[in-house]
Amino acid sequence: MVVWSPHKFNCGLEMANRFAIAPLTTNASHDDGTAAENELEFVRRRAAGGYGVTISSAAYVEQDGRSWQGIGAAHEGHLPSLRRLAEVMHAAGGLAVLQIYDGGRIAKPELIGDERMRAPSAIPSLRPGAKTPRAMTSDEVENLIASFGKAASLARKAGFDGVEIHGANHYAVHQFFSPRANRRDDNWGGTLAKRMTFARAVAQAVRGALGPKLIAGFRVTPFESEPDGYTLEDSKQLCGELAGLGLDYISVSLDDYRSSRPMRETRVYNAPVEQGYTPTESPITEFVRVIAGRCALMASGGIKTCMDAEGAIGMGADLVAVGRAVVVDPEWLFKVRSKSEASILAGLPQDEREIAEALSIPPRMVEYLLSRPGWFPRI
Ligand SMILES: Cc1cc2nc3c(=O)[nH]c(=O)nc-3n(C[C@H](O)[C@H](O)[C@H](O)COP(=O)(O)O)c2cc1C
Repeated sequence: MVVWSPHKFNCGLEMANRFAIAPLTTNASHDDGTAAENELEFVRRRAAGGYGVTISSAAYVEQDGRSWQGIGAAHEGHLPSLRRLAEVMHAAGGLAVLQIYDGGRIAKPELIGDERMRAPSAIPSLRPGAKTPRAMTSDEVENLIASFGKAASLARKAGFDGVEIHGANHYAVHQFFSPRANRRDDNWGGTLAKRMTFARAVAQAVRGALGPKLIAGFRVTPFESEPDGYTLEDSKQLCGELAGLGLDYISVSLDDYRSSRPMRETRVYNAPVEQGYTPTESPITEFVRVIAGRCALMASGGIKTCMDAEGAIGMGADLVAVGRAVVVDPEWLFKVRSKSEASILAGLPQDEREIAEALSIPPRMVEYLLSRPGWFPRI
């Protein structure tokens, strides 16, 4: 079966199988952006399952772009913590990739202060209670690109096998590409080509910092379901550009890889879907065509069984990233591999202490998982 076969990236590194642990923020790091023991344990137990690659929770590249209580890759002081994380992720022999992000207009004011919120344009997000950020100066934009490059250098020094740029889920890289969030009239906004310049520059900075022999990935939301958002045609163009920049993979972020529904900006899971753009074909199939073998495609969203993973591979994906299933069942891959899928845990237990203790989930992460109704099934 293809899912158990190795995959060789353009950079030469090889994954033992096609399964990745999706990036999973724990919201449980220390105030200074270093990893807490219980979040290292969360990762260690899950990575022990033998995934081809483990992708880290998103690490902030600048303090002012921090969206939650997560890890940082913003300065040399973060190196020891990043080294420990890479060690834990490598312990079972899989590859370790650090995801890096900036929150832009969805940075968390409680963490950084209202007055520090900056984004492509001075437009608040659709999230309830969102604050209005100020528009970044062109120097700040250049500095942010350099910060992505610096974070990639830190990842290399810390022993990671590569970096994934978080260009999805409404964070800053996504915001620069979005006509809803980016109303700039300089080099970084305006036409579709200009809205792509930030993503391209970040990809080039990261590749430059990593050199040719480490993995450079880019995570993208394939279209915005909000009215006036970017379309699948727009992101296909971006994907075509990125595939030409020597990346190793493009990861497509969807709630369910089959259903063409990306994460909405409001993050209200049980609200009706806004009247927006919906493509007729799965973005996975469309992206496979555009990429045309120039780099790998990673699919994610709703993978709970081996058959789900094979379904994504059957649509042309090379790799699959598994998120909620691995949160709920730390031994998920072991059960899939040993054909004991009937014993996979289907949801989080009712008792919060049991969630934390039995599943090695930091208590702060438990709170976070339960804060959005409909995000996780309960058993
Ligand atoms: C607790 C939690 C934290 C997440 N954190 C991140 C993150 O840091 N970066 C990211 O790109 N996606 C993040 N995601 C999205 C997942 O990587 C994944 O794309 C999504 O959950 C859909 O896949 P699934 O159906 O397998 O869960 C997170 C999801 C969950 C449930």
